[in-house]
Amino acid sequence: MCGIIGVTGTGPVAPRLIDSLKRLEYRGYDSAGVAAVVDGRVERRRAKGKIRELEAVLAAEPLEATVGIGHTRWATHGAPTTENAHPHKAGRVTLVHNGIIENFAELKAELAAHGRTFESQTDTEVVAHLLDAELATTNDPLVAFKRVLDRLTGAYALAVLIDGEDGLILGARRGSPLVVGWGEGEMYLGSDALAVGPFTTSISYLEEGDYVALDRSGARMFDVSGAAVERPVVQVSGSSAMVEKGEYRHFMLKEIHEQPDSVQRTLSEYLDFVNGTARPTAVDFAAIDRIQVVACGTAFYAAQIGRYAFERLAGLPCDVEIASEFRYRRPAVSKGTLAVAVSQSGETADTLASLTWCKAQGLQTAALVNVHSSSMAREAAVLWPTHAGPEIGVASTKAFTAQVAALLALAVSAGVQRGRIDAAQEAELIQALFESPRLIAEAMQMDEALREVANDLSKATDVLFLGRGPMFPLAMEGALKLKEISYIHAEGYAAGELKHGPIALIDEFTPTVALAPLDDVYEKTASNLQEVAARGGPVIMIAPADAPEPHGAGIRRVDAPACHPLVAPLVHAVAIQLLAYYTAVQKGTDVDQPRNLAKSVTVE
Ligand code: G6P
Repeated sequence: MCGIIGVTGTGPVAPRLIDSLKRLEYRGYDSAGVAAVVDGRVERRRAKGKIRELEAVLAAEPLEATVGIGHTRWATHGAPTTENAHPHKAGRVTLVHNGIIENFAELKAELAAHGRTFESQTDTEVVAHLLDAELATTNDPLVAFKRVLDRLTGAYALAVLIDGEDGLILGARRGSPLVVGWGEGEMYLGSDALAVGPFTTSISYLEEGDYVALDRSGARMFDVSGAAVERPVVQVSGSSAMVEKGEYRHFMLKEIHEQPDSVQRTLSEYLDFVNGTARPTAVDFAAIDRIQVVACGTAFYAAQIGRYAFERLAGLPCDVEIASEFRYRRPAVSKGTLAVAVSQSGETADTLASLTWCKAQGLQTAALVNVHSSSMAREAAVLWPTHAGPEIGVASTKAFTAQVAALLALAVSAGVQRGRIDAAQEAELIQALFESPRLIAEAMQMDEALREVANDLSKATDVLFLGRGPMFPLAMEGALKLKEISYIHAEGYAAGELKHGPIALIDEFTPTVALAPLDDVYEKTASNLQEVAARGGPVIMIAPADAPEPHGAGIRRVDAPACHPLVAPLVHAVAIQLLAYYTAVQKGTDVDQPRNLAKSVTVE
């Protein structure tokens, strides 16, 4: 989740880029760089560390220019060094990038075979080389750019300068956000409204797959098919854009859409994508014999999803308990247990008390938290951060998927350390995680279908969510989301448990939402759905398009992206979130601040 800024203007650009990058430091701060057009040629200045290091470099070697791009980096591919800092340059092309180019290794091999050499370990540099190669075949930068975009797999926001194209900045987005800022005789590009906040409050949000050519007089925008489009100009308040809704009607919807970015950022804390390995963590998983997780609410369901992965991939027994129960139950604990608190805020009273109790018993402790200076972060011996960024909607969305992503990555790490998965399996699982931000972005395409389903759900008084394996806790999270914001009663059940009670609830007015990725229990889930349909219950099955059709009248399908079973909870999370969101919107409830709830529960 790096920060991007681009300015094509008339005044000195370097101080403006720095001003913007300082506001973006919250997105990443292990290195930074700027590039600007000096006498028709693009020059770069880069530095490892915080923006003030880059300022020192610029003071020693100023850039006299009016057009430039800047970047503050959160390392995913390659260590935080000056060589890996953006902008990256190849021939005439200089660019900055936020996201992951998934097919970079194959593109790099192809470019290397054509004699191109690389100076960094990043995935980004291949994009610069590809565009430079295309520019040798056409005089039209936009044509070349589009050809390159069509070859990229993954998530990206890009800002590009080209030698000899004074005044021009190209931009593109897929998965990662990018905005165009409108000025007087100047134009801007930024990773969010905050980036362009110092210069303008008039913003156009680029849509998925859009690309754009900016010059001082305006912007030409194109959609993913290459057709010219216009995106509306909206007014935002620059100073507080970070906690504003931007183009979205509610924070919750904004935060749902931020998930490709927040998951990627969190995963890069735990995984080394260049080498396809899990990073070592402060916990030696080979030296423990059990994990005890304590959590509340949505964090409790995230932890339950993590439990499936820890047990399956690492053979590590894992118990997950609601903190308010755990703390008063006088649980029997054994010395080889790692106690883990999972919490967005790091302040939830019951979770904190449980963590403190575990510590007093002499257990090793870790806190998986989104607020890194929180009480739990300070209390635990080990801090496992999630990088969801500030979450404003009371109903947790991006904090949840960040927790799930971190736990899945840690489970892979544990599996490696405990000798339960070999190098090939590790590579396969990391590849699956690596692809998850793109798949989460693709999952947003379920929006329209889910909106229609939500129209029906809004008329129901009870809704069942079903799933097996890690989809069971996700079903419970789906029910919780719906309850929290639409006030419709909902239950999440293990699909196999249906016959032991909940099937009695089934009638034509009680919809069942099934989370059915193509995993090793798909057929079992499908047959449970037939049982519901046979009793006249409306069924909504969220499953990949190639999942075999369960027999039964009335089964309505929403096509989810096909994915590796490991990351299915991340991909399907989008569906349950959007379903709850649109149902609540349809009912006209207060989505971001539902009645009676609080974001952080710091009392018992
Ligand atoms: C409240 C929030 C939930 C959250 C839970 C635990 O109930 O409304 O969204 O999941 O607290 O909070 P934590 O900060 O510990 O994750």
